[in-house]
Amino acid sequence: MSHFFLPLLILAYILFCTPLCAQVSHHESNSIVEPVVVHIISRVPGSLRFHCKSKDDDLGSHTSSNGQEFKWKFIPNIFRSTLFFCHFYWNSKQQIFDVYNKDIDPDCDNSKVSFDFQCYWEARPDGFYLSNDNQTWKKRNNWA
Ligand SMILES: *[C@@H]1O[C@H](CO)[C@@H](O)[C@H](O)[C@H]1NC(C)=O
Repeated sequence: MSHFFLPLLILAYILFCTPLCAQVSHHESNSIVEPVVVHIISRVPGSLRFHCKSKDDDLGSHTSSNGQEFKWKFIPNIFRSTLFFCHFYWNSKQQIFDVYNKDIDPDCDNSKVSFDFQCYWEARPDGFYLSNDNQTWKKRNNWA
């Protein structure tokens, strides 16, 4: 093996990994991609129906009654292009929006609860609220 193979390897690592690995640290301090758990919680009277998908996964159609929770777990890709969107239906109202993407990710965090990142969504009669701890909620979307 030539004597400059190792320095070349280190140089290649610096050139190619540094920008990529910086992207990987999508959750503040850690340099690994942590699993994300998205929770969809119904807080509407009657039944909430929703259908969530990513580019690759179709989670199917689900119906929840008031207080019920549906959740799924995934590992975002290192390019940060992972995206899940849901179509919600309640009575005659509906709405469709991203429940997880790289811009929502920073609002999904709770190192206190578990290793996983948590995104909590509540569907309420007046719209959709996001929380990172299942306690403090911020309104993000209205019903259409
Ligand atoms: C979220 O909080 C509600 C009570 O406010 C509780 O019933 C539910 O189990 C919690 N969900 C999780 C995943 O912690």
